[in-house]
Amino acid sequence: MKFSVSGHDLNDLNNNLFIVPVPGDTDMTHIWNRIKIPGAEYVPFSHSQFKAKAGETLHLIPRSKNEPCILLVGLGKKPYQDLKMTFLKSTHTYKKWFATQITIILDLLETEDEASISFFAESAIKGIVLGLHEPALYKEDRKEAIYPQHVSFTRGRYAEESILNGAHKGFIKAETIGKVIDLVNAPANYKTPVEMAEWMKRSANSRNYKLMVLEKKDLIEQGWHALLAVNRGSEIPAKCMIAEYTPKHGGENLKTVVLVGKGVTFDTGGLSIKTNDTMYYMKSDMGGAAAVMGTIDLAAALKLKVKVVAIVPTTDNSVDALAIKPGEVINSYSGKTIEVINTDAEGRLILADGLAYAIKNHPCDYLIDLATLTGNIVLALGTEAAGIMTQNDLLAESLSASGQSTGEKLWRMPVWDDYKKHIESDIADIKNLGSKPLAGAITSAKFLEFFTEGHPAYAHIDIAGTAFGAYPTTEGYSGTAFGVDLLIHWLEKLQKDEKTE
Ligand code: BES
Ligand code: ZN
Ligand code: ZN
Repeated sequence: MKFSVSGHDLNDLNNNLFIVPVPGDTDMTHIWNRIKIPGAEYVPFSHSQFKAKAGETLHLIPRSKNEPCILLVGLGKKPYQDLKMTFLKSTHTYKKWFATQITIILDLLETEDEASISFFAESAIKGIVLGLHEPALYKEDRKEAIYPQHVSFTRGRYAEESILNGAHKGFIKAETIGKVIDLVNAPANYKTPVEMAEWMKRSANSRNYKLMVLEKKDLIEQGWHALLAVNRGSEIPAKCMIAEYTPKHGGENLKTVVLVGKGVTFDTGGLSIKTNDTMYYMKSDMGGAAAVMGTIDLAAALKLKVKVVAIVPTTDNSVDALAIKPGEVINSYSGKTIEVINTDAEGRLILADGLAYAIKNHPCDYLIDLATLTGNIVLALGTEAAGIMTQNDLLAESLSASGQSTGEKLWRMPVWDDYKKHIESDIADIKNLGSKPLAGAITSAKFLEFFTEGHPAYAHIDIAGTAFGAYPTTEGYSGTAFGVDLLIHWLEKLQKDEKTE
């Protein structure tokens, strides 16, 4: 995909699709005057109905083939909400009208600063590329996504550089987000820990970052007891990927961020087995891992000035004669013992080892885990937002702000020590399920916190409701790559803070 910026002159009609983002409540005559396509005539449409509400789209078909099609994309009122999703939905709906050349007309936007226009271009491109994404990976007649070859932007009053930088970033991000969506959509037999490791190897080779894959024998040697306990019921050996991206020219004050992702490639529940009806959704139980994998891929691709370590413990949670029995006490990487009340609360077990490994081996400024951890967070927040649980107010605020900008909303839940008593065990250091069927998302966060040795900037993000669900490009449920866009946005902010220090 090539990007360019042109002036205001729309005489060159070789482009056959014009995309016109329209701020909420702009009147139609104004739109017409501003885009001024000389001599073009369109099939009559009802002007008055288009109010440019967020996500509202109007497609105008020209009378002559030599004129461009026009897609008016409503943005709603400022501050614009979830621009990526707005463009994604419009693109998907009018996919067949997408041409090899498109022009995005920025003239109708109100005055924006250069950073906002850059983010606008980025979000538009992310939405367009993801809206054209083809999810049907396993069909015999699988179609490859077809992207426009050339996207030009009318420049409006903005600097060419801001628009082009944003557009390039948008494309790189969308490519990775698309791959993360494919990985989450992959069925369990196509993404065992072997394929999870292969994905990371490909990423590490192409983006040039360091990757270590801990095989089962290494896990045994190093004492990843909780991950190995979950893996006991599985035919396929667990692995843990440890990836490290260090920028070449980082400067002295370089921040280090460690990301840990839950990589359960399928969650049957183990002996505390799940019911049948929606068990197949549990192929998405590696949504946290996928988000972390996509984030380090992009941090390296965009050469961010932040050090990022990604820790991805991965196994399935299956049923077998050797599987953990409810009530067993197991050991963990940290040496702390865990009473496993329910084998379906397996994510927190593998994360306990991932977090303890992080604390011991990778001192860091920020420690963040992402996990499809609890049904309780889905009950609390639905599919509209993920839960963020941290003692650190600033971290909660800055992550939530990035979520707001990227349309991946976070809502904070408390992690007061009052909840600790729920997970005290009579016979082990901690138990993996609260005594009462209450506050399950919070008690699981308190469980994880127990393995972080009081790290001052630790956050847990529960994405059980947001990693997999309704999505514009599929009829049924799809992976969403929730977290990738958010974390990359947050890392970009972090590197800017770094420069001003
Ligand atoms: N993977 C599930 C959580 C989940 C639920 C993810 C719904 C996506 C959608 C997790 O391992 C799990 O089974 N959690 C149980 C824990 C319970 C048994 C303590 C839950 O939340 O129901
Ligand atoms: Zn489970
Ligand atoms: Zn799970």
